[in-house]
Parts: sequence; C-alpha cells; structure tokens
Amino acid sequence: MLPVPDDCRISPLATADIAPLTALVREIWHQHYPGIITVKQIEYMLEQRYSPDTIRAEIESGAARWVKLLVNGELGGFASYAADDARRAVKFDKLYVHALFRGRGCGAALARHVEQAAGTLGYDKVYLQVNRNNFDSIAVYRRLGFEVIDRVKTDIGRGFYMDDYVMAKVVRGEA
Ligand SMILES: CC(C)(COP(=O)(O)OP(=O)(O)OC[C@H]1O[C@@H](n2cnc3c(N)ncnc32)[C@H](O)[C@@H]1OP(=O)(O)O)[C@@H](O)C(=O)NCCC(=O)NCCS
Repeated sequence: MLPVPDDCRISPLATADIAPLTALVREIWHQHYPGIITVKQIEYMLEQRYSPDTIRAEIESGAARWVKLLVNGELGGFASYAADDARRAVKFDKLYVHALFRGRGCGAALARHVEQAAGTLGYDKVYLQVNRNNFDSIAVYRRLGFEVIDRVKTDIGRGFYMDDYVMAKVVRGEA
C-alpha cells in the first residue's frame, strides 16, 4: 500500500468547489476516456452527471456525498459515494485523480476515505461500476482489493450504453 502523501488532503466538496470541479472532470474525461467511449458519449455523460446543477442537487439533498482531493492546495481529484440501503452497501460512484497526481497514493487515500465512511454508515461492503474497457482503473481497483462480481449493460439514453463490471469489496473492521 502506498503511503498517503503528506500534501494530500481530503475534505467535503463545498458549493464553491463545483465550478473548479467541473473544469477538472472535463479535463480528466477528455484525457482518459477516448478509446473507451466515444467523444459524443463523453460529452453526453458529462452533461448528465457533472452539470453544476446536478452536483449541487446531490450535495444539498444528501443523495450523494462528494469529497475533494487537494494536493498542495490544488484541486487534484474527487470522489463521491452514497448509501445503498437496498443492497446494504455503499456505492462508490466516482473516483478521479488528475494524471499529474496519479501513482502516488491519492486514489488509494480517496478509496480508504469511502471505505471508512461505509463503516460509519453501518455497512461492510463497498461496490462500484467500471467500464469493462477501463483496464488501468480495473487494475487499480483490484490492487485496492475489489473483485468483479457482475457485469451490467445499462441503456443511458440517446443510444448510449454503459458496459460495466460491478466490483465489490468487504470492508468489515476498516472503519
Ligand atoms: C483510478 C485512479 C483514481 C487511481 O488513482 P491513483 O492516485 O493513480 O491511485 P494510487 O496511486 O493510489 O494507486 C492505487 C493502487 O493502484 C496501483 N496502480 C496505480 N495505477 C495503476 C495502473 N495503471 N495499473 C495497475 N495498478 C495501478 C498502485 O500501485 C496502488 O497499488 P499499491 O498501493 O498496491 O502499490 C486514477 O488512475 C484515475 O483517475 N484514472 C482515470 C479515471 C478513472 O478511470 N476513474 C475510475 C472511474 S470508474
């Protein structure tokens, strides 16, 4: 396990962070996802999931919890998660670290944050979905202890699909 960098800080995402976050996620998606999904699908999914109104509504309603990663005071990544009472688990919905800050333990630190939050919420399981062709991130999740438990193909509208693996990890005792 990589040590958490001293200059890495994780804290709740505030309303004032939404504009910089949408710029960051746009940069990460256009750098990372071509070759995995089309540019049209990237634009569609950014609009669907990362509009300032969508993020604000999720934070204000508590539908999801968002945290930001600051590296030397600079916004370098983020994560979001939500309790899934039906599955008695936490859904790890988003995990992104800018390429400049990868490979130094920041993603693992965000994952640990979510796993500890799951314990606080009273759940011992965290699951996520990852595109089946997102090989690097699948490898990262495996390193973090997640295992593939299912495969789902979801119609997300306008002719686009998400073809994902579901990966899960038991986090009992990590809170
Ligand atoms: C996935 C992501 C968040 C990981 O963040 P990161 O800060 O680079 O991850 P870390 O440095 O904490 O590495 C975590 C573990 O994965 C390993 N790892 C990192 N990159 C890897 C890669 N490309 N292949 C295999 N293992 C990798 C690390 O060695 C570490 O394992 P270890 O502690 O046992 O040595 C980041 O790569 C990212 O934002 N990717 C693009 C966006 C994306 O696909 N997000 C997931 C959407 S579902």
